[in-house]
Amino acid sequence: MSFAKHGKHKQTWYAVYPSKKLKKKKVISINVLSKKLLIRRDRKGKLLVCRRRCPHLGADLSDGKFNRGYVVCPFHGYKISFDESRNNCKYAIQPFPVQERYGLIWIFNGPKPTHDLPKIQTKERFVVKLPAQIVNAHPHLVISNGLDVNHFNQVHDLSFTEMPKVTSSKIHVSVSFKAKSNMLLFRKKQMEASFTTYASNIAIASIEKPISFDVMFTGLDRNRKCKTQTIVFLPKSIKSIQAISLLYILLHDDVKILSKLKFQPNFNEADKAIESFHNIVNSIAEY
Ligand code: FES
Ligand SMILES: [Fe+2]
Repeated sequence: MSFAKHGKHKQTWYAVYPSKKLKKKKVISINVLSKKLLIRRDRKGKLLVCRRRCPHLGADLSDGKFNRGYVVCPFHGYKISFDESRNNCKYAIQPFPVQERYGLIWIFNGPKPTHDLPKIQTKERFVVKLPAQIVNAHPHLVISNGLDVNHFNQVHDLSFTEMPKVTSSKIHVSVSFKAKSNMLLFRKKQMEASFTTYASNIAIASIEKPISFDVMFTGLDRNRKCKTQTIVFLPKSIKSIQAISLLYILLHDDVKILSKLKFQPNFNEADKAIESFHNIVNSIAEY
């Protein structure tokens, strides 16, 4: 049972670094997912992510000399291959599966991806990556907050006009609903939206009404807090401003509650979606 336990990292995709900050032919060191990693971008733009520690006596490989398929360790000069077959190298290390999407570098925390990184339609949309935010709560709780439809009335002043529908699979949980907003800015407007989580740390909110836009959230467990990345897919119109205001209103009050929450899985029948998410997270292996 590792739901909302700090320092336990599930096998799924994590956003670990902003794409823009890593130029070609540069190597950087990062500490994420309780691991010491290096990320390198070669002269063609291709990324490599692996552990920094040399398999020989443990020197830091980010100071090594990188070549195609291997790095020369700065300590004893052994060649360390990035390929299991070793290719005449003394040692090998396995790189992490890596992808670049929505302005972020994502790695799969495991030997092989067991599921895809979700795709969002970007045509006719502005893709805006908001500054990373630190929330004083475990990422599992931050990511599943939108599945917790049970709090929408109390915290966000939304009344359902159609009861939430929940669907789920091995890795996703989705809840869709129609509601009336009593918030000042959207008074009496009909709201239609769905909220979907993928594995343990990605969520997508798709709002249809009153304004159509999508938001992707992802979180990293860091220093017992959640480093949250939010990417907004906005309509290319003035409605963007309204969309951002709606998002701000929806998220603002959650953060306050989550930061003081001491979670316990005492679910009732109204908590079906978040309970499914909880079970999915517990079923995913750690790495
Ligand atoms: S520590 Fe890397 S070659 Fe010895
Ligand atoms: Fe909320």
